[in-house]
Amino acid sequence: MCGIVGYISKSGDRKSINVGIEALKRLEYRGYDSAGLAFWDESRQVICQKATGRISNLEKKMGGNGFLPLDPVILHTRWATHGNVSEANAHPHCDCTGNIFVVHNGIIENYVALREQLSQEGHKFRSETDTEIIAHLIEKCFNGNLEEAVRKSLGYLVGTYGLAVISSYDPDKIVAARLSSPLLIGLADDHFLLASDASAIISHTRKVVYLEDGEIAVINRDKFTIIREKKTEELDWPEYQSGKGSFSHYMLKEIMEQPGSVEQTIKGRLIPDEGNAKLGGLETVEKKLRQIDNIYIVGCGTSRHAGLLGEYMLEEYAGIRTKTEAASEFRYRKTLLDDSTALVAISQSGETADTLAAIREAGKRGALTLGITNVVGSTQARETDAGVYTRCGPEIGVASTKAFTSQVATLILLTLFLGRQRHLTITTGQRIVKDLLRMPEMLEAALQCDTQVKQLAEKYQAFDNFLYLGRKYSYPIAREGAHKIKETAYVHAEGCRGGEPKHCELALISDKFPSICIVPSDSVYEKMISNIEELKARNGPVIAIATEGNREIQNLADDVVYIPEAMELLTPILSIIPLQLFAYHFAVLRGADIDKPRNLAKSVTVE
Ligand code: AGP
Repeated sequence: MCGIVGYISKSGDRKSINVGIEALKRLEYRGYDSAGLAFWDESRQVICQKATGRISNLEKKMGGNGFLPLDPVILHTRWATHGNVSEANAHPHCDCTGNIFVVHNGIIENYVALREQLSQEGHKFRSETDTEIIAHLIEKCFNGNLEEAVRKSLGYLVGTYGLAVISSYDPDKIVAARLSSPLLIGLADDHFLLASDASAIISHTRKVVYLEDGEIAVINRDKFTIIREKKTEELDWPEYQSGKGSFSHYMLKEIMEQPGSVEQTIKGRLIPDEGNAKLGGLETVEKKLRQIDNIYIVGCGTSRHAGLLGEYMLEEYAGIRTKTEAASEFRYRKTLLDDSTALVAISQSGETADTLAAIREAGKRGALTLGITNVVGSTQARETDAGVYTRCGPEIGVASTKAFTSQVATLILLTLFLGRQRHLTITTGQRIVKDLLRMPEMLEAALQCDTQVKQLAEKYQAFDNFLYLGRKYSYPIAREGAHKIKETAYVHAEGCRGGEPKHCELALISDKFPSICIVPSDSVYEKMISNIEELKARNGPVIAIATEGNREIQNLADDVVYIPEAMELLTPILSIIPLQLFAYHFAVLRGADIDKPRNLAKSVTVE
């Protein structure tokens, strides 16, 4: 949720602040309530500067302050966990003497006890954070060598960390450590960069070394050392998606990118003649997958909604018993797992703490672990037995849009692959492949509703409550539609199965409570029409998302948005489009900060 950057050059240069801030800005989407940095000045003293709000506030503060910065520098952008948003709570944090500076991602769970103990020993605290403990522990353990002091300090900590430390006692090095919070070192020609996310350093180098849990890295000017031998990996990310371009927000840009991002997901992975999918990432476990007769899908938020769709398609087309669970629940319930079970973890970032914990728990209990993620080299990608990348390019908007449609497309590929290993006929497989190949073009058509949806957002902008309804494959879309408007526009919305309101939610319905009904022409169409009748009988305004060509629905719904016709299991990729656009335009009209929703961060790396 927070972001870490470190910079150290071979010869000691003055680019450190600019390079560091530019890299930090690429992480701002992960944590953005305050920022800070610590660096050397000419007199070899560590200078620490902090500002609340955006990184640009920190930049303003740095401008014209007369410092002549030298590296190393460590920087941080914060998403508050312990203590409110203030300069005092912003990182870096330092020890009593002002000589040891720490930036940290993660949570120190035993910080209350440690703070008490350190206070009794005479340490003075300046912030309310758990992180400050680490600086004081290093001070306590320091005996001339920074890495040794860091190593000893880590022994006291219970919790998670990705951290970077500099000290005037042992200059010309950054010491970094990781436990369940990602960190990597970028190897550029004349400098090293440390970062909590590869997107921060991609413009400098594609050569990176990922730290593993429990490792400490000592980054000197001319070399770095870590406990185990690490292999250098090549980042094969496409360059073209970076930046907002002409769009006012990343969210809108990413919604509009979906024809191309879904195309990237399916590219080279379909075998039309065989009605099958070719998934290189699953080759090593192909035989094992034939023995699987239970699947658990886990994920959080939007990724979990994609998982709910996976549940429907894997049961219907691959014939495998499938259950989807919130990753935060899975890790604590006593789900029955054995070696005929596969866990499929879905995560855009590949760093969501709850999802990683579920993977570890399932692995411990003998299940095969598979991952569907977007971020190459993420913890999820490295900790699962096998997996498939969604390949939709970096997603910056906190509200996940293109990652969702690519996750759903990936689940369709997985369904084809597992289905064809079992009883899915070649003819049905071929029909799915045919429709999937048309998906980029159908997405272009679906996006044409943008102007109409913007007008609908204007029409409904005064309402503070929405009910989203769908049945079968449209139920997870109702959930996701409600999720989108809640997180972007901060209004109340519920996503329900179409058949359920008569048991409860009809009590809410009146002319003040509109419903958005996803009602494509599929196997549950007639049932869903009856559910819409129930809403209309109570004067509830209804916006319907329907299949192109269905004129009948205009007699029932107040407003209709059309999507192209596709096979039932592929329709969710299209029906989510008007709901993403509705949430976006509605949030703009309500003055919400679209790319930085209140209280949320892009990647949730704490439990
Ligand atoms: C999506 O719009 C949300 N920001 C959030 O629910 C997100 O999907 C969730 O935190 C999971 O993230 P992940 O896909 O990176 O694991």
